[in-house]
Amino acid sequence: MRLNVLIVEDNRSNLMLMEMLVRQVGRCSVLAYPDPGRLLDDLPGIHFDIALVDYQMPGMNGIDLIAAIRADPRFAEKPIVMITADDDADLRLRAIKAGAVEFLTKPVEPIEFKARLANLARLCEVQLKLADQAEWLRGEVEMATLELRRREEEIINRLTLAAGYKDQETANHTLRMARYSALIARELGLSEAFCRDLQLAAPMHDIGKVGIRDDVLLKQGSLTATERAHIDTHTSIGAAILAGSSCDLLQLAATIAVSHHEHWDGSGYPKGLSGEDIPLVGRIAAVADVFDALTSERAYKCAWTVDRAFQHLREQAGRHFDPDCVAAFERCRDRVLAVMLEFPGDGGMRRQVA
Ligand SMILES: [Fe+2]
Ligand SMILES: [Fe+2]
Repeated sequence: MRLNVLIVEDNRSNLMLMEMLVRQVGRCSVLAYPDPGRLLDDLPGIHFDIALVDYQMPGMNGIDLIAAIRADPRFAEKPIVMITADDDADLRLRAIKAGAVEFLTKPVEPIEFKARLANLARLCEVQLKLADQAEWLRGEVEMATLELRRREEEIINRLTLAAGYKDQETANHTLRMARYSALIARELGLSEAFCRDLQLAAPMHDIGKVGIRDDVLLKQGSLTATERAHIDTHTSIGAAILAGSSCDLLQLAATIAVSHHEHWDGSGYPKGLSGEDIPLVGRIAAVADVFDALTSERAYKCAWTVDRAFQHLREQAGRHFDPDCVAAFERCRDRVLAVMLEFPGDGGMRRQVA
């Protein structure tokens, strides 16, 4: 490891002497400046590890120069040594306040100069190594965090896939519904990170259907009241599967699962919550889910047109749906159409991991 030593000294012979002594210490390169003004001009483009600054120089004294160097955040922690013939305590105090950490007395005594510089160089090397290790550790933590997040996302996608083997809804239904949910959230001004999480968690809204009996879930034709009540338990079963996790995405998915069939006017299930007592993600998912169900073809119905589906949402705003979520969704109409084009109806294909 080579260190850059900056020397600012107007006396040419002193400058040459110090330059020679620095080179004798070894493992150091020298940046020599006889003029403090020139150094300040060049400062943005240079780098140093240790600075030796004379006090008495024409144009600018060493204390003002040290303060100007310290103003650059890159040099806020670098050791700066003041070289002075003056042992005035007040001057030394002002130099320390400006950022000097050490003093060397003029005339420079070669043995002392080299010993002090070698000590500073060792200190710098240790600091640089520690900084390297801290940087390496930061990188490792960042990579481990990304890997953790990637695994969480994979688990979620695989859970969604598992649920798809039970539920007749199609792969593209969950993809579209999740994207519509993210569009609404973005339009409502929620953060990009939250919108992304919502898009990942929303496909699990019906995961509780894995707990519904096949003869009820797959029944063609109308359901009895008992069967309907059994199907409705998919919300609380979904919450039971997903709740209590320390993973934020699973917690979000649990909230969506338990609240996506609540209605704004309190007529929904499982808790009959109303208005803003329903978690926002549940209100958002309700609009996205119903819109996609209406505009999709099912065994028992044709796909509604986009206009008719939006009309239905408007009619149900304030009853089934949160009016703000419906309005936000309508403002996204062009992006909704783009999602429909990107993920067209897939005629009953099983879900795939997205
Ligand atoms: Fe559902
Ligand atoms: Fe759905």
